Amino acid sequence: MDRSKIKRAAELIRTSKYGVAFTGAGISVESGIPTFRGDGGLWSSVDPNYFEIEYFKKKPFQSWQKIKEIFYDKFVDVQPNISHKILSAMGNRGFIESVITQNIDHLHQVAGSKFVYELHGTYKQLVCTECSTEFDMSFADMSFLPPTCYVCKGVLKPDIVFFNEPIPKFALSRSIAEADKSDVMLIIGTNAEVYPANTIPVKAKDSGATLIEININKSGYSDTITDIFIEGKASEVMEEIGRLLYL
Ligand code: APR
Repeated sequence: MDRSKIKRAAELIRTSKYGVAFTGAGISVESGIPTFRGDGGLWSSVDPNYFEIEYFKKKPFQSWQKIKEIFYDKFVDVQPNISHKILSAMGNRGFIESVITQNIDHLHQVAGSKFVYELHGTYKQLVCTECSTEFDMSFADMSFLPPTCYVCKGVLKPDIVFFNEPIPKFALSRSIAEADKSDVMLIIGTNAEVYPANTIPVKAKDSGATLIEININKSGYSDTITDIFIEGKASEVMEEIGRLLYL
């Protein structure tokens, strides 16, 4: 870990007028949730087609078997890690205004972050594909797949963005507005590959923000728009930044 870079990053965050965080799967690895790409990434063992919207519509049972196995059975016990907690503390202290995330795991909110924009939705909520009624996941009977709607018996879908599905309008427009206002963006644990989510840091850069990136590997941003690239595990770097900000 490059301490001089961490010091500069902490100073930029401390003096920022409108700091914003942008997170990907890498921030939740240390909570026990695998990334999607790279070594041990989900897509190396699971066919992403199970998460493609037309496939889901045609074969909801097969898709739900994978969804339940990967998200609902595995996510049940996951807890926020120190990186989520430090971001929440940064929000409470006014060092950042919001968290824009590609993650569907709800861990930013569990850690206490108040303004979280979920570009790829959330596994916590299910929505009926017929009548659009929304249910908290705790109401869904997943002992029988696919789970169905209590109102119209339609098939329920996790309120996450499947491949070839549009991003929720509210989350996208709010994220673009936050990026536009930001003077410092803290990017944590993303490969920068998935469009249009990956345009958010570009928007921030175009609006004059300084980009700080934390990742164990280089991403599509690192040698292009990132100003300070800090190579390291999110938990270790964030713990150090948190210490420097007295969080
Ligand atoms: N600390 C910091 N970064 C890490 C860590 C860690 N401990 N572990 C892994 N990373 C980094 C990896 O180097 C990689 O760059 O996290 C990134 C994870 O990349 P992806 O798996 O591609 O995840 P992400 O960029 O969030 O994917 C975007 O793709 O599949 C879709 O909808 C899904 O939201 C997801 C989107």
